[in-house]
Amino acid sequence: MSTPSLLILAGDGIGPEVMAEVRKVIDWFGANRGMAFDVSEDLVGGSAYDKHGTPLTDETMAKAQAVDAVLLGAVGGPKYDKLDFSVKPERGLLRLRKEMDLFANLRPAQCFDALADFSSLKKDVVAGLDIMIIRELTSGVYFGEPRGIFKEGNERVGINTQRYTESEIARVARAAFELARKRDNKVCSMEKANVMESGILWRDVVQEVHDAEYPDVELSHMYADAGAMQLTRWPKQFDVIVTDNLFGDLLSDLAAMLTGSLGMLPSASLGAPMANGRPKALYEPVHGSAPDITGQGKANPCACILSFAMALRYSFDQGDEATRLEKAVEKVLADGIRTADLMQSGEGEPATTTEMGDAVIAALDASL
Ligand code: IPM
Ligand code: MG
Repeated sequence: MSTPSLLILAGDGIGPEVMAEVRKVIDWFGANRGMAFDVSEDLVGGSAYDKHGTPLTDETMAKAQAVDAVLLGAVGGPKYDKLDFSVKPERGLLRLRKEMDLFANLRPAQCFDALADFSSLKKDVVAGLDIMIIRELTSGVYFGEPRGIFKEGNERVGINTQRYTESEIARVARAAFELARKRDNKVCSMEKANVMESGILWRDVVQEVHDAEYPDVELSHMYADAGAMQLTRWPKQFDVIVTDNLFGDLLSDLAAMLTGSLGMLPSASLGAPMANGRPKALYEPVHGSAPDITGQGKANPCACILSFAMALRYSFDQGDEATRLEKAVEKVLADGIRTADLMQSGEGEPATTTEMGDAVIAALDASL
């Protein structure tokens, strides 16, 4: 196979800062593990808008379609709050997801032992937590038509449409069952079948796919509100959770915070296999652009670094190297090296973004 290609879209806010640390990690794997990548960079979000008047140009979109994997930092910031909806930074990200057809968004919520004290929940509720939320990412209320703000009589009405086809549900359900087989073999599907027809269909189709293709996997169904409650009550009951785009947005933020450290959580958005067998893929940290700490060296690069670990695993079939990188991050935490988000006040000097990246590289060196 030819040299694998990566497109880096660092984006806005802390995106470029954390991505600079990922660059070091990519180079480390090239120099020490014989894994060279063909890396290119481009703009997305507000930075693309500033230069081109659009949060994602057609050229960048075409590049994203052509590479083996896209690594994204973060988009958005207060500077862009007043922009027209159609050119807001987020539209760039949503266009990438939609046009690359990245229907399966994998959001692990893992509690690192060294960080269990950071959760707002009791330590024994979260210690050792390892769940995977699979969020449908290309349909539902994020994209359904009709949508818009319309005039009805003498007032305005805002409309969005929750819409799911059977095939959209079936393909994300398959992704969840496949993943569960490699983990604890349990899937919980969440919707609101008690109030939404799209939820009734969701539940039916997930069950059908299960019965026909994955009877060996343990399947349960939960209303999404009860799911949110169970996630905070006893999250370790879950292994894989599969849910729609909007519920997935909410539940994955909730699950992320269980671990106490948004700055640690990566994500992968995967689509159908390309001609070379690799899935269409975009990797990004769960956290946002954090304008409040931008440019201060405070950002935690770990979520973005761990997103690259997911790329090694899911795009490049390098599970062992992904584990090496994850273990390196764990070692850094265990050694007590922390960015400000991972410290309680009065705990001493936090590591800067760069120092954290360097510590990960040192831990990688030590792994050889
Ligand atoms: C996420 C974000 C995005 C979403 C925003 C930035 C459009 O919250 O990836 O979860 O709502 O999907
Ligand atoms: Mg979100």
